[in-house]
Amino acid sequence: MKTMNSSRFLPTFVSNEHRPDSQVPASLVVPEALRAPLIDALLTFQAGETGEGRIVAEAVRHARGDADFVTTMRLYIAEEGRHARELGKLVRALGGPVRTDVRTANAFRQVRRLIGFRTKMLVLAAAEIVGIVFYELLADHVPCPPLCAVVRRIAKEEYRHLHYQQAYFASLGWPLGARLALEAATLAATAAFVWDQRALLGVLGVSSRQVFQRTRDLCTAPESSDAELATMQSIGNGEVAGRPALGRSATLNMSV
Ligand SMILES: [Fe+2]
Ligand SMILES: [Fe+2]
Repeated sequence: MKTMNSSRFLPTFVSNEHRPDSQVPASLVVPEALRAPLIDALLTFQAGETGEGRIVAEAVRHARGDADFVTTMRLYIAEEGRHARELGKLVRALGGPVRTDVRTANAFRQVRRLIGFRTKMLVLAAAEIVGIVFYELLADHVPCPPLCAVVRRIAKEEYRHLHYQQAYFASLGWPLGARLALEAATLAATAAFVWDQRALLGVLGVSSRQVFQRTRDLCTAPESSDAELATMQSIGNGEVAGRPALGRSATLNMSV
């Protein structure tokens, strides 16, 4: 069995460890029709991003002596914690409540606690895929530049997390069962997303079919080369080159 080349990811995780949380203005204004579904969606993802510290402890047992794997896993989960804090700031700036008892996200966390390390990584990989689609959707369509800047930055980090997951499963030889399980987990996570966030998708003019297509594309994308990773990391504003936008081509034309 191959060993994951964790050191490939180490410099970026380390250099990103102390990036300050994104600044968010005290108050954000979005079209009124968008505000409630947007807050609901951000709360769901905030709860999903909230750290699962025990996976880091489990990573020690699965590291096969690879200290870089343990370090990158710790920094990976810490980045998710920062995403949760940033989403919380967005929610508060939009006038939303402070809460983490979101049903879908709670179910997601309970599943993670019940399963073994590799399956946990699969669930996390599926969450990365749906997260990328969600954050890019907001960045492309919500007419609120400060909010778009925050979610673009998060999306960029989720891409790196997905590449990290791909490298992990590649190190296991991508057994057929893992591929099928990832596709199934991604399909289930996407179905939960389009059902839970149907109000948001409706306001943004994005169809369920587009979301399913995009998550499938990400799920089946080949593992990135080091050169592609470097290119992606150098894109300062968090945009990822060549990615298609979903739904309407521009931001919403709605009065605020
Ligand atoms: Fe995240
Ligand atoms: Fe992530």
